[in-house]
Amino acid sequence: MPLDSTVIQDARLNALLMRLREDRDRPGGSGRRQRFTADPNDYADRGFSIWPEQGEIIYLLCRAIKAKRVAEFATSIGFSTLYFAAAMRDNGGGTVIGSEIVPAKVATARRHLTEARLAAYAEIREGDARQTLRDLGGPVDFILIDGWPIPGDGPSLARQVTEIVAPQLRTGGFLMNDNAEPDFLEYVRDPSNGFISLTLPIKRGTELAVRVG
Ligand SMILES: C[S@@+](CC[C@H](N)C(=O)[O-])C[C@H]1O[C@@H](n2cnc3c(N)ncnc32)[C@H](O)[C@@H]1O
Repeated sequence: MPLDSTVIQDARLNALLMRLREDRDRPGGSGRRQRFTADPNDYADRGFSIWPEQGEIIYLLCRAIKAKRVAEFATSIGFSTLYFAAAMRDNGGGTVIGSEIVPAKVATARRHLTEARLAAYAEIREGDARQTLRDLGGPVDFILIDGWPIPGDGPSLARQVTEIVAPQLRTGGFLMNDNAEPDFLEYVRDPSNGFISLTLPIKRGTELAVRVG
């Protein structure tokens, strides 16, 4: 079902978000299918972005908890970053710490943030998120884990990055996951990790967890 309403009161930002959605949906646009390779550099022009419904929930929850410091793995072309940055601005100030390994995508995300006049609310860290998100500089209020498949039998990137950033999430903070990686779900459903978690019926299942311990 297409999203036909938004909680964001910013015509410039809404126009940009709409344009990015249309680019993705256009045949031959960044949503086109191609043979899969595991190298993120092969997809410098593809967003793989969250759905607008997920962005709206991110914005709404960040406003609800008055979030000031948030983080995401990963940023891609900045679609999710725009929702976070708008919430930071509308909360009276704050920073979204982004992460992206493909330099061309970092440049695109920064361009989008500048176009939306939100660049002052974002810090995009270029490189491998397993390094760049190791130190978030203090507790954060919300983390998005929107990862990337890697071949092999080892832990998913979502799980690896979660183990690095989850301890930096404050009690009462939110952890959202886009791709329902089984080992991510195992992590948030293990009570010893301090989360309670719910699967929202959005996309293939959007996991929304709250840190309670
Ligand atoms: C699903 S996309 C993120 C979409 C973004 N959240 C949005 O809504 O627009 C996943 C991104 O992870 C990036 N990526 C893959 N491996 C990475 C790594 N080790 N560190 C940082 N970014 C990585 C890819 O280049 C890709 O842009």
